[in-house]
Amino acid sequence: MADSAPITHEEYRRLCEYLYRRTGMTFNETRRYFVDRRVADRMAATGASTFADYFARLRGDIDGEIEQFVNAFTVNETYFYREDHQLQCLTANLLEERLKVKQNGETMRIWSVPCSTGEEPYSIAMWLLENWPQVDAHDIEIVASDIDTEVLSAAREGVFGKRALMRLSPALIDKYFVALGGDRWQILDDLRNSVRFTPANLVERAETRPHGLFDVIFCRNVLIYFDDTSRRVAAENLYENLAPGGYICLGHTESMSRISPLFEVCRFADAIVYRRPMGDRRG
Ligand SMILES: C[S@@+](CC[C@H](N)C(=O)[O-])C[C@H]1O[C@@H](n2cnc3c(N)ncnc32)[C@H](O)[C@@H]1O
Repeated sequence: MADSAPITHEEYRRLCEYLYRRTGMTFNETRRYFVDRRVADRMAATGASTFADYFARLRGDIDGEIEQFVNAFTVNETYFYREDHQLQCLTANLLEERLKVKQNGETMRIWSVPCSTGEEPYSIAMWLLENWPQVDAHDIEIVASDIDTEVLSAAREGVFGKRALMRLSPALIDKYFVALGGDRWQILDDLRNSVRFTPANLVERAETRPHGLFDVIFCRNVLIYFDDTSRRVAAENLYENLAPGGYICLGHTESMSRISPLFEVCRFADAIVYRRPMGDRRG
């Protein structure tokens, strides 16, 4: 891996602008080290000798470079049972509220977007099995999406290290994982098969819309990487993916009220979440 990328201030600006248009993520000068390292890696991987050469390959999508480039720049930090007060809210309130307005037998749809390496959607599945006694009485679909195709492959494989499991009790680990040795565990096939992983870019309506309407969306810890404009675009896209009266959970540092007026704030005992009103708020 190269130590630094020989790119100028202007090249840095062009690269960040390109990344922003593709993903909604913003990188200012304070992230220079992070960006330089990744550019150096991609230049080495593609054999580009200058930034101009690399940028031309990227823009021409030579050998699928756009996908590799996006994958290189995402920040995929996640772990099981992260902010589990929201999972508590899911089973104590959100699903019960949704059941009141759903037809008998209608599928309950939950979307984890972005799902990174899968800890979040698998946590939802485990939490439902552990904490929602009615789980077997309902048809539940868990969909999990991310812009990063590499994390989606890892998520489908379902192999995790110690750090990812740090918030799970030994009893839960024993129950839902197979120890592979070397501090690696694979989630049980039943759970792996209970989540459908599919790519989606939150700032591209053409990629979010086909996923259809959900009862609950978990969109946690991604809007922090966006600027106001891409946050609003993502919020409007997600609004369209919520059934009327459906809920959206954000990360604890993120607030929908500062992003978009489309949603209602709902304060439950365990979490503050947002809701698409029953009537449409768009003009
Ligand atoms: C920090 S992880 C959050 C994972 C999980 N939601 C959690 O809270 O633990 C952020 C994820 O956002 C994804 N991401 C970044 N930009 C995206 C976009 N425009 N559309 C979809 N996913 C995106 C990244 O690939 C990364 O996996």
